[in-house]
Amino acid sequence: MNSAKITADALRAMKARGEKIAALTAYDHPTARLLDEAGVPLLLVGDSLGMVVLGYPDTTFVTMAEMEHHVRAAARAQPRALLAADLPYHSCDTVADAAANARRLVAAGAEAVKAEGGRDILPQVRAIVAAGIPFLGHLGMLPQRVREEGGYHVKGKAAPEHLALLADADALAAAGAFAVVLELVTPPVAREITRRIPIPTLGIGSGPDCDGQILVTPDLLGLSPDYIPKHVKFRGHLGEQARDIVATWREMVTRRREPAVGDAPPK
Ligand code: KIV
Repeated sequence: MNSAKITADALRAMKARGEKIAALTAYDHPTARLLDEAGVPLLLVGDSLGMVVLGYPDTTFVTMAEMEHHVRAAARAQPRALLAADLPYHSCDTVADAAANARRLVAAGAEAVKAEGGRDILPQVRAIVAAGIPFLGHLGMLPQRVREEGGYHVKGKAAPEHLALLADADALAAAGAFAVVLELVTPPVAREITRRIPIPTLGIGSGPDCDGQILVTPDLLGLSPDYIPKHVKFRGHLGEQARDIVATWREMVTRRREPAVGDAPPK
């Protein structure tokens, strides 16, 4: 296997070659290592960590300090994959904040940053790119706006929303984004954007025709405690397995039966 470090340019080249990109979130050192060993080329320290790791109701509670903490942990895995990190809620409201907070994430170990929005954040995107930091866009359902929007709604059904998505995708590509996440975009619109822009699209709940797919890793592994989104069709059941292993071990301990070498944990 080619062991060269994955860069933003390498991901763009994958689109040019028609190679699909499988991206996942990683919030800690062991997960980043595991996903890297599995050959995933793009790891995202997503602010979804607020929900799946920190127990917040949505991503708007995540702070820069929390993002830096998790970026440092994932970066210690020194993955071959490109390690991107989310700019959390209100961390890039101004151009100065965007550039300063992107630099903080890079200082913590991120190799690229992601922010939610299109034409509304173009000056911030340009400042990040001008600082030499690879930028990953995020269009469609924007989780940081979940409270304003009253839920997680599919985007692109009505003509004005469809046209706005095309214009936002064009603008991000022109501003120098190396790829764009399309979250809960109707599959025909996601396909149209994918054909239209020169940079890779990474779909999440946006149909099969994007240049790649991105998932929240605990959703894929079956570790999310409360809710698994509908678009996660292929998934494991590690949460149930972990509970069984712990329950069996607890039983052994409480019955004063020493676990022995060769005891098989439950399947
Ligand atoms: O925060 C996150 O994990 C994300 C992915 C769902 C793309 O933005």
